[in-house]
Formats: sequence, C-alpha cells, structure tokens
Amino acid sequence: MIYLNGKFIPLEEAYIPVLDRGFIFGDGVYEVIPAYSRKPFRLEEHLNRLQHSLDGIRLKNPFSNAEWKNLLEQLIAKNNGEDQYIYLHITRGVAKRDHAFPVNVPPTVFIMSNPLLPPPVELLASGASAITAIDNRWIRCDVKAISLLPNVLLRQLAVDVHALETILIRDGFLTEGAASNIFIVSNNVLLAPPKSHLMLPGITYDVVLELAAANSIPHEIRQISEHEIRKADEILLTSSTKEIMPITLLDNQAVGDGKPGELFARLHTLYQDYKATHMRGRSCGCDD
Ligand code: PDD
Repeated sequence: MIYLNGKFIPLEEAYIPVLDRGFIFGDGVYEVIPAYSRKPFRLEEHLNRLQHSLDGIRLKNPFSNAEWKNLLEQLIAKNNGEDQYIYLHITRGVAKRDHAFPVNVPPTVFIMSNPLLPPPVELLASGASAITAIDNRWIRCDVKAISLLPNVLLRQLAVDVHALETILIRDGFLTEGAASNIFIVSNNVLLAPPKSHLMLPGITYDVVLELAAANSIPHEIRQISEHEIRKADEILLTSSTKEIMPITLLDNQAVGDGKPGELFARLHTLYQDYKATHMRGRSCGCDD
C-alpha cells in the first residue's frame, strides 16, 4: 500500500495528473527514511531536514511532525518487512503550466515503503568501487529536491563501469557522492567535508560523526582536496539505505591496501550497535 493525497491505496491504483508540477518542473522535495523493526530511524532529524528542503523551495509543510509520524507508522504497518525504507515526496501540486507558483493549490503528497535490505555481506567484506567526476549540479545541494537529473547522470557514469558510486569534486574539493556522503581516513583521522549548500546534510553522516565523537575516534570536519582523496588510507560511503560502506577501488586504483580498513570495521560495528539500541526503543521525540 502507498499513501497518496489522504488515501492509502495499492501502488497500481495510484495516479497523478500530468500537470503535476513534480512531473512538469521537478518542483518538489523528498526524503528517504529507514525504519528498523518497523520504527522510523532518526525520524525527528529527517523531518527537520524535510522542513529545511520545503523552506528552500518556499512550500508550506502540509503536516505537523506528529501528523507525519502517525502517517508513516500507518504506512509501515500496512507494508511487509520488519525493516523498510520510506520514500516521501511532496510537490507544489497540479496547476496550468506556468513557472510562477500557483495560488491556493494543495501540494501532492506521496509516500511509499519498500523492504530494506542491508548491503550484501560480500560487498562489505571486499569493499566497493567508485569513480570520480566533476560536481556539475546546482548550488543548493542542501535541498533534497526531486529534480535529480544531474545526480542521475552522475550516478550512471558509475553504473556504466560497474562501480557503486560516483564521488563528486567541485573546485578541487570533495563534496559528496551522487546519492551518498563520503568520508576519508588519513593517518588514522576520519575526515568529513563540512556541511554547506554544496552537499546534502546526510542523516547517516551525522550519526557517523556522533559515533566517532562518542568513541574517541579522531575526526576532523574540513575541506578535503582531490589529492587527499586519492592518497586516502580509507574511503567510506554513507546513506540511509547503504548505511556505511567501504570504497576500496577509486578510478581503478586501490584505496590504501585495497581492503576495507580498520576504521570502517569499527564504525560499521558501532553503527550496527546504534541501530540495535534504536530498535530497543529510543524515542524519536516527535510527539509534540
Ligand atoms: N540519498 N547525498 C545525496 C546526494 C543523497 O542523495 C543522499 C541520500 C545522501 C545521504 O543522506 P542520508 O544519510 O540522509 O540518506 C547524501 C537517498 C538515500 C536517496 O536519494 O535514495
């Protein structure tokens, strides 16, 4: 079952008019929220980021956080799988094609949930490959906009050469992946690019930095040059659906010794422990 504009219906019965501004202009924002043991993970943080995206495109939030929580819980209950990932999508609604915002038009709200599978164990053991490309996206990458054409084209470059991800470089510095955040490890220090309008403020990125801080893992948030990426001892990728993954091959060159590194192993274990704590009942704080 999916949710569309106030109704829970089967996916096959869900249609939107062709004049929806999401279809015509890519005029909307989205979120991807994992749910473990049917509990949305970091819900408050995802809803805060949704608000930031909506503010970024000047679209009113159709629901309070408590209403979102309620809707998502209902949707999770109606779908299969203890672990699911929720895709939530809001557009500026249906109106005659005109760039200007329509007046008094309700937004389109679409939410679906699919089973969430952890990354394959073999891939975690061997590490994944990535390529690099120039980051040619717009400069509001902090807004999780549904207009993802540049990300789609950049990710396809990786798919074309059987790599997992495209790591993006803007003006000589690391920004993020086409659909993930990227960290490097250099001399036993975990390095993360600073949040800015040039990257999506990842929820998993925040968890990893919190885990590093809580466990005395040396870490620094600062600009990372292309040269440093290529010399890195480890490269780590994070996202809500991929969790934390090691990148062991970059542009066909081994990263460090070509195997997943020690810091990856440590952070991956900490991440799994953190998830387990969440499943045992961390409150999401969205009741008000
Ligand atoms: N993508 N950067 C970009 C461009 C992303 O699309 C994503 C996530 C991330 C990681 O953010 P988070 O840790 O909050 O998932 C960073 C989602 C999963 C997607 O579009 O499917």
